[in-house]
Amino acid sequence: MEQIIFATKNKGKIKEVKSILHEFEIISMEEACVAVEVIEDGKTFTENAIKKATEISKITGKITMADDSGLEIDFLDKKPGVYSARYLGENTPYIEKNNHILHLMENVPEQKRSARFVCAIATAFPNGKIVTTQSTIEGLIAHEIKGENGFGYDPIFFVPEKGKTTAELSPEEKNAISHRGKALKKMKELLAKEGEISH
Ligand code: IMP
Repeated sequence: MEQIIFATKNKGKIKEVKSILHEFEIISMEEACVAVEVIEDGKTFTENAIKKATEISKITGKITMADDSGLEIDFLDKKPGVYSARYLGENTPYIEKNNHILHLMENVPEQKRSARFVCAIATAFPNGKIVTTQSTIEGLIAHEIKGENGFGYDPIFFVPEKGKTTAELSPEEKNAISHRGKALKKMKELLAKEGEISH
């Protein structure tokens, strides 16, 4: 089975990726013993994903997939956006980040609470080839924190069609509709079509 490094240190993400790309042997940076820090200084999710995948692939000589994702809140001019992980400081607990956003959105009416999770994925091959995909999930900023599943901003991201936040969905339910789930599935199809990876 083809080994692919997935360039993230986020344990919540790795769990989702392994479950969605179960046909491949996905190895985390930790499992691949790669400890480099790639600076995410791109202006877009795609730029950051390409940078991470390319740098790790160059170091390891292996096929490397990376994602860059985040939450865009329309009322906050699409913030936190590409800075989602660093919003209010990288080490600030998400309970604080989420409460801060709920506070900023306190009296904002339903029709102005639109938001989306965005996920860009890049796969870099040792020969320099790069394949990218992007996907989103639309939702609303909730009025209170709800749910224990997922990670990050999941407890405040309400999906109207489900009547739940993404933190209230089971991992399978979330993966079926999420930005990351859809972008990874697109990537799987693209790689299969191009005959790049066998499994
Ligand atoms: P990245 O590791 O630079 O892609 O940072 C993405 C950040 O966006 C995460 O640390 C979370 O704050 C947020 N984020 C991305 N995807 C999700 C998700 O599925 N649920 C909740 N938060 C997410």
